[in-house]
Amino acid sequence: MTATFDVRADGRRIRCVLTTAKPLAGPVLCFSLMAPAKVVSGGKLLDSLGGHVQIALPDLRPGKPHIVTVEHRNRIFAPANRAWLPLGPYIRHRHGILELPPAEPGPRTGTAPTPAAAGPDALMLCPPPTASTLSGGTVDASRGFACTHEAFATVATIAVHARTHDAPFLSPQGLPVTIGTDKALPPEGYFLVLAPEGIRLTAADRAGLFYGAITLRHLQITHGARIPAARIADAPRFPWRGQHLDCARNFHSVDTILALLDLMALLKLNRFHWHFADDEAFRLEVDCCPELWQKTAFRGEGELFPGFRGGGARAGGSYSKADVVRILARAAERNIEVMPEIEMPAHAFALTRVIPELRDPKDTSPDGSSQGYRGNTVNPGSDRTWQLLPALADEVAALFPFRHLHLGCDELSESAWQRSPLVSRLKKRHGLGGNHDVQGWMMARMAAHLARSGVRAAAWEEAARGRNGGIGHGAILFSWSGQGPGVAAARRGYDVVMCPAEHAYFDMAHTGARDDWGAIWAGATGLDDTVGWNPVPEGAEDVAGRILGVQGNFWSEFTTQAHQLWPMLMPRMMGTASMAWSQQGAIDAGHLRVLADGYRASMAGAWAWNYAV
Ligand code: ACM
Repeated sequence: MTATFDVRADGRRIRCVLTTAKPLAGPVLCFSLMAPAKVVSGGKLLDSLGGHVQIALPDLRPGKPHIVTVEHRNRIFAPANRAWLPLGPYIRHRHGILELPPAEPGPRTGTAPTPAAAGPDALMLCPPPTASTLSGGTVDASRGFACTHEAFATVATIAVHARTHDAPFLSPQGLPVTIGTDKALPPEGYFLVLAPEGIRLTAADRAGLFYGAITLRHLQITHGARIPAARIADAPRFPWRGQHLDCARNFHSVDTILALLDLMALLKLNRFHWHFADDEAFRLEVDCCPELWQKTAFRGEGELFPGFRGGGARAGGSYSKADVVRILARAAERNIEVMPEIEMPAHAFALTRVIPELRDPKDTSPDGSSQGYRGNTVNPGSDRTWQLLPALADEVAALFPFRHLHLGCDELSESAWQRSPLVSRLKKRHGLGGNHDVQGWMMARMAAHLARSGVRAAAWEEAARGRNGGIGHGAILFSWSGQGPGVAAARRGYDVVMCPAEHAYFDMAHTGARDDWGAIWAGATGLDDTVGWNPVPEGAEDVAGRILGVQGNFWSEFTTQAHQLWPMLMPRMMGTASMAWSQQGAIDAGHLRVLADGYRASMAGAWAWNYAV
């Protein structure tokens, strides 16, 4: 034992008891916290930047406990669960770094939902299909299916385990599958007839055949060797069925991303929103500005941003262009388009730290972000901004055949740019009022630039703001703080993807329990909450055609390792997939709970998730 670090929440306060085996002179206690901190007693706050907290302590005497009490600075935050306690603690002292035992044993994601009674004859399928009829009797799937179509070969590579038997998905001795084409069927849709003598699968396109094969794989997983004889007519409700992954706060390996793409494909999700740039890092290895990723890719003591990992040691990474090619190849086989995101004007601390000329040197605005960053906003009045950002956008967009680039645009601080002479000049020149106008002008300029090379811009909901109409140029907006901003944007002519935090943010804790794990600012999000809403809310039927779809988002601040990711995503991704694919009336929370329990056993290998990890 070199040190113990015992952490307890006591109402709003967090009490840390630190005991070291050796004397330590000039110790500084460092850790990451979900939100900026203040010290109540026991030390002096040196800095709290983006949740990385540094507290100067008195010299420590061996075996003598020292107590430090801290609080979240923002009074709306209390330590709701274990993820809100100090994470990755360590001590910096005169002679180096002393790692402290982590306060967090890892995520426990709530208790298993109580399964409702399974309908004995129901098809066990997530997302639920548009229409199905049971023909009576069963079909023998014990030897898998015999089909030579390449979509079936792709499905066979998705490493999910059948629950009740070890049948392969594909085998020449399996139940024969006949493939047909019917151009009258909807895009991505399929028609399946499951009969004892064989299967007939019809679709208009390759995506439909792929999803038909996925459905067969599901039925093998959920029903085992004997699947119900049935007719299934199925097609997605929405063309955009997304999952987002924040790889900026914490680096997720290419293997983790490939595994996520497999899980998405199983759930018939077809858009991967790859968030590799934020305040903490820019992780794509771009040629136009190599220092961007070279200087920000790693965490740890002495790095540009030390926080959000388990201790002071170096960790992280960046994505090479070869990594992008691997990810794109996996995605394409699985009918998934990949949309990259770069962040501006806010959430850009990494950019502004590496290239200070992206800010106005005379700007004295107190622009702190709600995550605790100071100066994380790029200045649209700076020439350097317009030298870098269009070039960066071009290079990133060119790597992705989807030709969509998400430009960020969330959470610009109200106080940003207020005292920037460069922005004052910009306002005068272009007749702009407040920050919303300036941001709208900047985003519109970026979107126009992208449009010239055939790239469609996307952005968070805030990009609709401004008297000038916001970003424009056919951009897709992502409604995250609720559905209201999405509906309002749709009425202003934007296409919208709904990802309201209270239903679709999987970094939220599953429950309100103190021993759970996760953010809580949008409330605890149980499995039922993921389906307890309508992407086209009541009263918004007039803009239903503008709502492109549904997306789940995952922010990674406190998720340092892959094994912590799956228990947060699952089973809730099943809810998002249901909202995105299925008709509203086909979704039933009780049935979803039954399915979740069944799928859990099948997914133990690839995406280990449990209700109590
Ligand atoms: C967001 O959650 N700031 C998009």
